[in-house]
Amino acid sequence: EKGGYDHFMLKEINEQPEALKAAITGRIKNGEPVISEINNIEEFIKNNLKKIFIVACGTSYHAGLTFKYFMNRYSKIDVDIEVASEFRYMNPHVDENTLVVAISQSGETIDTLEGIRIAKEKGAKVITISNVYGSTIPRESHGAIYMNTGPEIGVAATKTYTAQIAILYALGAKIIELTEGLNEEIRGILKGIEKMPEIYKEVLKLNEKIKELAREYVKYQHMMYIGRGFGYPTALEGALKLKEISYIHAAGYQAGELKHGPIALLDEQFPVFAIIPKDSLYEKMKSNLMESRARNANIIAITTKGNEEIKQLANEYIMVPETHEALYPLVMAPVIQLFSYNVAVLRKLDPDKPRNLAKSVTVE
Ligand code: M6R
Repeated sequence: EKGGYDHFMLKEINEQPEALKAAITGRIKNGEPVISEINNIEEFIKNNLKKIFIVACGTSYHAGLTFKYFMNRYSKIDVDIEVASEFRYMNPHVDENTLVVAISQSGETIDTLEGIRIAKEKGAKVITISNVYGSTIPRESHGAIYMNTGPEIGVAATKTYTAQIAILYALGAKIIELTEGLNEEIRGILKGIEKMPEIYKEVLKLNEKIKELAREYVKYQHMMYIGRGFGYPTALEGALKLKEISYIHAAGYQAGELKHGPIALLDEQFPVFAIIPKDSLYEKMKSNLMESRARNANIIAITTKGNEEIKQLANEYIMVPETHEALYPLVMAPVIQLFSYNVAVLRKLDPDKPRNLAKSVTVE
């Protein structure tokens, strides 16, 4: 049932070419978004939509944050995001002009469920992205988009995370089409998603190199993940993956926040994992790497293929294929997943069953 892999997590990481393809089939066609699941709220989106509020937990929240960066850049609609356990107790500002986008792999996370109930009471429309047919959150929503990735058994969310981002981008593009109109750049991003299954085959081949890095870094007690822009949610997800399955303390930060406190932690015992694609924020990330190096922190960098300069900036590097800035969260996800997986295995832990965690969090 593990298809020849040692663990479900590794199987599910390697399933991402097919899982992503299944997630976008019928939803993105030649760069055009087709999300029939929102047909019943299309009039609402065209005539009433003023704000999008994203609600989710854990990895789903990180997919949501990536979506927020996408919508901020490509639409004029106000976008807010909150983890569901805060959203439900904060008197969230949602009303009949708000679309709540709930993201839940299991469709059963109690905080997310209670969050959408509150949103509905306040008159908001709710659309949910989930991987489990007929689960509670999609059933209680105005629309549900199922990820179609097949069941995810490992406690760590992997293939569903990348499927979520792909679907959220398609949903975002659809909303933009209905409100402001699509442009070529957005169509190009969607076309890039259509190519992602092929790109993933290449990215997954990096596992041997990633395993080598894991061997060197398994000895550390801490790790700081940093990124900017679209790289920031990836940093958060990298840190979450590492702590949840390898029990190494990891923090994810916006790289620009380093000098507001966390840089004080860095030294030869506290390495940095930098998300540094060749994008519009590359130069800014570069300065953050130099600052970190000045504190003797070892640096692993994930960057874009062909960026030879990284050899001077980082101790170790992994190169991924070049893509659109908005698509690095997708291209880089398997790298952070494989890194955490390999570290956990080297520590003789079972990545499929991390202590204290459940696949579906149905209690507060
Ligand atoms: O089923 P959900 O997407 O609502 O679950 C939310 C989180 O519990 C989940 O993403 C969790 O953070 C993952 N196990 C992390 O890998």
